[in-house]
Amino acid sequence: MENTLIQRVYVWQLPVRLYHWVNAIAVVLLACTGYLIGHPFAIQSGTEAYDNYWFGTVRFTHFVSAFFFFFNFIGRIYWGFVGNKYASWHNFIPTKKKQYEEMVDVLKVDILQGTIKPLESIGHNSLAGLTYFISFLAFLFQCITGFGMYAAMSTSMLPHLFSWIVPFMGGDFAVRQWHHIMMWFFIVFSIVHVYLVFYHDYVEGRGIISSMAGGWKFIEKEKNK
Ligand code: HEM
Ligand code: HEM
Repeated sequence: MENTLIQRVYVWQLPVRLYHWVNAIAVVLLACTGYLIGHPFAIQSGTEAYDNYWFGTVRFTHFVSAFFFFFNFIGRIYWGFVGNKYASWHNFIPTKKKQYEEMVDVLKVDILQGTIKPLESIGHNSLAGLTYFISFLAFLFQCITGFGMYAAMSTSMLPHLFSWIVPFMGGDFAVRQWHHIMMWFFIVFSIVHVYLVFYHDYVEGRGIISSMAGGWKFIEKEKNK
């Protein structure tokens, strides 16, 4: 029988874990309320108009979540420069040959259901890191287009920093259309992401899912026959 010595490694610091869960909740709220803004229900009612503020509440929830989403994202960008080596930006953009080789290995596991080799990375694997980087670009796009539209309904300074985007992208209609299409990126990303973290939790056996709660992963130290 094979005994494996396991070492505990503190991978995700508190700011990364907080960022992750605030972001996950905000994205779910933004996608649900955004979908309703794009396809509102036709609710009929005989009461006073001010008793039927449900659409206003949906929009309010979208905008409040948007502010959480935006400042949380800024916090994560900052933590990419000052956090530990697993939080650093180097994990998101593959620059070394080894990282590309790992991406091929992970694809073999995820798509061809191959057996996993011991992974080089302890934090995000190279393929996961690259997909998170792509999702960060999508976050940026959603913030720029969202605040661009919001500028028309706000007197605050922050949304007005983005007001140039509306004429630049061809008007309100075009910006809303792109903002809407991008929602589907987040829906597909979230489904694939949750599936893959569960799958990797199983094939790697390193406690990936609980690592986003407590911060620790469990890495093979050495093998004793
Ligand atoms: C993951 C992030 C987000 C998703 C999935 C999302 C999704 C959506 C969707 C689907 C719509 C409806 C578009 C349509 O078909 O008309 C919408 C509208 C809108 N969103 Fe977002 N959004 C996100 C982030 C943001 C952010 C960061 C802001 C910044 C304030 C924002 C501001 C707006 C505004 C102003 C509207 C138009 C509301 C209206 O005219 O009633 N969104 N969003
Ligand atoms: C039940 C739902 C979720 C679970 C269990 C979960 C779990 C995890 C885990 C375990 C990681 C680290 C994986 C690794 O080692 O590579 C991670 C990273 C990440 N997840 Fe999720 N996740 C969930 C929902 C979401 C949602 C809805 C989003 C947003 C669309 C999201 C965005 C991210 C991002 C951006 C990272 C990288 C974090 C960073 O380095 O800052 N997750 N997630």
